[in-house]
Amino acid sequence: MAGTSRAQWGSRLGFILAASGSAVGLGNVWRFPYVTGDNGGGYFILIYLVCIALVGIPILAAEIMIGRAGQKQPVGAFAAIEGRRTLWGGVGWLGVIAGFVILSFYIVVAGWSMDYTLKSVVGFTNGIHKSASIEAAQFRGQAPVEEMREMLAERKADETSRSETSAMRRALAPKTWRDLDRMRSAIEGAVDPSAARARLMTDDEVLANVEAAERKEAAIEAVRAEHLERARVEIAALTENDVLERAEDTKRRDLIAEGVGAAFGATASDGWTSAFWSLLFMLMTILIVAGGVAEGIERACRVLLPALLVLILVMVVYGFFQPGFAAAAEFVLRPDASRLLPSSVLEALGQAFFTLSLGMGAMITYGSYQRAEANRAGPGLIGESVAIAGIDTLIALLACLMIFPIIFSFGQAPAAGPGLVFISMPLAFAEIGAGGMLLAILFFGLLFFAALTSSISLLEVIVSYFIDERDWSRTKATWILGLVVLAFGLPSAFSMDPGFVMSGWEPSYGANFFDVMDHLSSNWMLPAGGLLIAIYAGWFMPKRVRDAQLDGLGAPILLGWLLLVRFVAPALVIAVLLQKVGILNIDDLLIGLGG
Ligand code: PHE
Repeated sequence: MAGTSRAQWGSRLGFILAASGSAVGLGNVWRFPYVTGDNGGGYFILIYLVCIALVGIPILAAEIMIGRAGQKQPVGAFAAIEGRRTLWGGVGWLGVIAGFVILSFYIVVAGWSMDYTLKSVVGFTNGIHKSASIEAAQFRGQAPVEEMREMLAERKADETSRSETSAMRRALAPKTWRDLDRMRSAIEGAVDPSAARARLMTDDEVLANVEAAERKEAAIEAVRAEHLERARVEIAALTENDVLERAEDTKRRDLIAEGVGAAFGATASDGWTSAFWSLLFMLMTILIVAGGVAEGIERACRVLLPALLVLILVMVVYGFFQPGFAAAAEFVLRPDASRLLPSSVLEALGQAFFTLSLGMGAMITYGSYQRAEANRAGPGLIGESVAIAGIDTLIALLACLMIFPIIFSFGQAPAAGPGLVFISMPLAFAEIGAGGMLLAILFFGLLFFAALTSSISLLEVIVSYFIDERDWSRTKATWILGLVVLAFGLPSAFSMDPGFVMSGWEPSYGANFFDVMDHLSSNWMLPAGGLLIAIYAGWFMPKRVRDAQLDGLGAPILLGWLLLVRFVAPALVIAVLLQKVGILNIDDLLIGLGG
């Protein structure tokens, strides 16, 4: 992609591959499963699919169309279509800023995938497998059978009570639980605990919250105790040999989970490690965008995207035979309104934008690299959009079917936050043993590559603005902007490091810097950008330009698209944003940002 004479994709397939490369990335394999886990699965996925179909696909087509018609990056494309500079250029600007924010934390997670590729090459899952197996065998040989029975009963109770108790927990607002936590830590540190309690209790709201949370906690305990009673009876009926077998197995899985958790901690909670890998990943992104070797990437996509898909399928099949599969299938597939949080609709919408690379002009930019004669291919526009969204959604859903059986098989919580994929997959790889090492290398290597094809599209949006509108050279723009984004990403790299100066964010706002950037960009900036793009394409784009773009499209499809892009998509986005803004108070907003 050169600055002077506009580069073009080799073919229509080339365009679809490049756009899919942008769409398929960490959003599918890292972000989708983790927000699904945080939002209770089931209904969340359903809402997400509705967002993809009614909002995502129409806006995707709109972006491609604007790029193709304008033959420029987002800021310039609107001016080119309008024949002069208008306020619509601001949409492009918003996109440049959103790209900046997204890329700043994207490189951190992509960096983790590089770290994990290297960890896999030196066989970290193998090591965990070996020591866990040895220790579990010792446990089997030494621990009293009664202790084993109790451990198995506890585990069983955790499993059977989980969905009920977590629904009970969610019945109270996060703020309520936080007041309880705050109260506890105040008492813990205080010289005179009852005085500390009395002081905090002077605030009526805190008082009410603490009492409500304590009552709920007792109720949750009671439910768990019931489950434990039942589990004890069940386990008591097992033969001693069964108990030994199961105890060893459970112990091994626990130890594996411990080792895998420690490995993630070593990466994420060490700011310097995260920063180092972010830097390396950013340099690779810069080199590719600066060198304009995007065609190489386009060609590599042809092989590596299907490879990622196949590997995910292999792991889905593996998960199918794991003990947690039924629980996972229930979690992912069964719509259960009680698990849905009020903020989930916004999360689903934000995820739809994020995963399709929408709302910030990446698809406008990629569309602009399509030959103008592609104008002729009206039907192509919708077909391409559906194909890109279809590939993207398929990979996202499969990623959930791959991750959650593992999570449930190891008794882990689905709401593990941004670490989910890095905690869940190594569990399976470690459990598999020697062969798992190869799978781990392939998996994290392909994840890294998928992240790279997305990050270049993010940087491309930012860079192409400075090339087209500011006359910077490609080299200068890429290096300067890439390094600025990297600097802005450092607080995200350090945000999970307890020694970091800004670690005070998390306790006071319920979300760290990284989470705030993630949710701010996906849930607010992208939907806002997408809304404006839909309004432009539906209502303001000169009819002559739009007709030329849509030439050849059948009347029903054209009508359907217009209906969606004019009314349905804007109405849905506005409704979701307003519902969120309407109940605004700064505390709630920050909880919302923090998920
Ligand atoms: N769609 C990419 C992913 O799923 C992320 C992305 C968002 C890329 C916005 C470009 C623009 O990983």
